[in-house]
Amino acid sequence: MKNQCVHNSELSHADIVHLLTDEPASQLYARADEVRQAALGSDVHLRGLIEFSNICRNDCLYCGIRRGNKGVKRYRMGDDELVETARRAVEIGFKTIVLQSGEDMHFDQDRMSRIIERIKQMDVALTLSIGERDYSDYEAFRNAGADRYLLRIETTDVDLYHRLNPGMSWQRRNECLLMIKELGYEVGSGIMVGLPGQTVESIAGDLLYLKDLGVDMAGIGPFIPHPDTPLANEQGGSLEMALRTMAVMRLLLPDINIPATTAMESLHPQGRIMALKAGANVVMPNVTEGEYRRLYELYPGKICVDDTPLQCRTCIGMKIQSIGRTIGQGKGGHIRSASSA
Ligand code: 5AD
Ligand code: FES
Repeated sequence: MKNQCVHNSELSHADIVHLLTDEPASQLYARADEVRQAALGSDVHLRGLIEFSNICRNDCLYCGIRRGNKGVKRYRMGDDELVETARRAVEIGFKTIVLQSGEDMHFDQDRMSRIIERIKQMDVALTLSIGERDYSDYEAFRNAGADRYLLRIETTDVDLYHRLNPGMSWQRRNECLLMIKELGYEVGSGIMVGLPGQTVESIAGDLLYLKDLGVDMAGIGPFIPHPDTPLANEQGGSLEMALRTMAVMRLLLPDINIPATTAMESLHPQGRIMALKAGANVVMPNVTEGEYRRLYELYPGKICVDDTPLQCRTCIGMKIQSIGRTIGQGKGGHIRSASSA
């Protein structure tokens, strides 16, 4: 395949499978890096991630905070505590705040809307990552000022999805993403790589799905088996396969936001830097405080559990600058280039 960007977005399913398996990794990463540089320049956008509740009604087989994991000490922040955590993140320079939690219905439409309104007064972009809700919730959150919504499709292999997510429906999740899009949120989705039974062909299908959906952001991370889940003895995804998948995503969608995911750094001390050199342009440092950081354990080996928000901000800032990249000064929303209009 020629090293040109013009036809990248026309990659077929077979081309993608080839890139994921046979293309020399360093070549693929370099190409994704070039495409990122041409479309978006050197800026890396930072998002302050607040993990505000680890209470979840779901029982996803892969997830450490699944309902069935009785060994987890559960927590939820109070409303004021959550808003104050956001305020401190804004004070240390974050221009986007991401609110993430398990599917915790204590944060109902009203409570969540009030929290969103308060954080939006701080002149930041606000992203929600709180799972599946009904249309009226998504609408209320949008009206309250939420700008973006993250909901990974996880996999487009519908049978695999239903095996891994008991009681959930793939069709329903897809509908949630369509609602989010219709309401004018910037849409973030994504997948895990290395799920048990997942094939390269299915990952290629996932990438085409994300392209067709027209996502503004795509988070791609390796699946890391958690010891207290039914998937404890599975192999998990490799950093290389996750990086390859992310790099191909960049070729398919040159101008979207792609985070260097925390799960990548959990597999390798330089995982996020490797990702930033292979197509990524976003990092989401954790700004959750104290004991909560450790308790929000989706997978083992989570990084930075003993650090403070400021330590993470400083550390990642230095890492980003050490590879010649710059920290984005704005809110870092998805800016469509002319070619993708
Ligand atoms: N390994 C890697 N990623 C995981 N997630 C959940 N559990 C795991 C795991 N064991 C991811 C899912 C979810 C996101 C918040 O974290 O993709 O959407
Ligand atoms: Fe948290 Fe480096 S990003 S210590």
